[in-house]
Amino acid sequence: MLPWSLRPRRPWQGRRVVLGVTGGIAAYKSIQLARDLTLMGSQVDVVMTEAARRFVGPLSFEGVTGRRVAESLWSAEGSALHLSLGRDADVFVVAPATADFLARAAHGRADDLLTTALLATRAPVLLAPAMNHRMWDHPQTAANVEHCRHGLGYQVLGPDRGRLGAGEGSGMGRMVDPSEVMEWCGRLLAGKAGGLTGHRVLVTAGPTREPLDPVRFLGNRSSGRMGFALAREAWLRGGAVTLVTGPSNLPDPVGVRVIRVETAVEMLGAVREHAGSAQVTVYAAAVADYRPVAPSDQKTRKADTGDRLMVEFGMNPDIAAETASLTPSDGVRVGFALETDDLLERAGAKLRSKGFDLIVANRAGEPDAGFDAETNRVTILDRDDGLEELPVLPKDDVAGRILDRVQSLLARGTGARGRAL
Ligand code: C5P
Repeated sequence: MLPWSLRPRRPWQGRRVVLGVTGGIAAYKSIQLARDLTLMGSQVDVVMTEAARRFVGPLSFEGVTGRRVAESLWSAEGSALHLSLGRDADVFVVAPATADFLARAAHGRADDLLTTALLATRAPVLLAPAMNHRMWDHPQTAANVEHCRHGLGYQVLGPDRGRLGAGEGSGMGRMVDPSEVMEWCGRLLAGKAGGLTGHRVLVTAGPTREPLDPVRFLGNRSSGRMGFALAREAWLRGGAVTLVTGPSNLPDPVGVRVIRVETAVEMLGAVREHAGSAQVTVYAAAVADYRPVAPSDQKTRKADTGDRLMVEFGMNPDIAAETASLTPSDGVRVGFALETDDLLERAGAKLRSKGFDLIVANRAGEPDAGFDAETNRVTILDRDDGLEELPVLPKDDVAGRILDRVQSLLARGTGARGRAL
């Protein structure tokens, strides 16, 4: 399950997806995939094999896509369709892809509408295999997958390990979650135009937890949403993304390498390891400024403290400032500033003192913005004293606007200009 709302947006919006469905029990999951892609604004043309129709009916797909399902090559319509479907597709997905389909695809067969259309397409191809684990483990299937992957350049997703069809127990062979296929479609649809292909992106997110004793901690209200949205968007745009996050309930964004930490000191260690190879670093974490100097190794008890508890706090490292010098000289660094007053002055001062190229300023305590909200209202400040005030937007759109600015700095090669640190 993705924490993002399904609504028309780039890179899905207005694009054409061919969704091939072959004959496996996982075909029911593809109804959700077809629905989600349609909700994201894609035009989804479903092509079912004869075997697929034994598992699910075309009407289910037609109900969620609003478009006719293509089934047979052997009609006047089908013989023209095999070329037009392949030619007009922006991405060609087959989910589930059975062992039989993989064999036919690997050998260039064209014995039904789906494989014929596959040969006619020049769009990126995404396959989500699903089958019994014994069939997946067979060397012939492995050879077919290998050829699809490396010989033909198809993207093969999964399968996952997990529960298989009834009576088959669990094992390797379960189709990946439809949301994973949808995200991959997005990345393939963005393609090179995504703008971050070949770039490493590092994002910090979430709160930190500073232990007081083995059961208690000092934390904050950050949900991680903004940083997770940035990591996801950077990956959709083609980046190789690492997300270093404090405790958050959000699931790992698809394709992103996620490093989960607890304390500021742990976060610093992870950022130090990755900042040197990242052209783009975005510091979206809400890091605790202080931590208890001497956390107790036993639970603090009321009986031992009396009615007052004194805790001594020491300063945490400033992760952004400490890692500033690691960003490559042509890289771009983005910070966040959450303030209750003098927002723009304070944000501008932080931009310079911490050596950011851009800083995203938002006011604490605003409705529809900040911690735990699904939307945000921010102003982006740059080193030329430029101010870009954005309206209230869903956090994934805010992430897109921030990355648009990052990409224009990367294109101009003006990141890291005259850093203070
Ligand atoms: O000083 P302040 O906490 O307002 O700075 C905010 C910016 O600095 C954010 O980008 C935040 O992620 C980063 N920061 C950090 N390490 C800290 C404190 C803040 O990286 N200890």
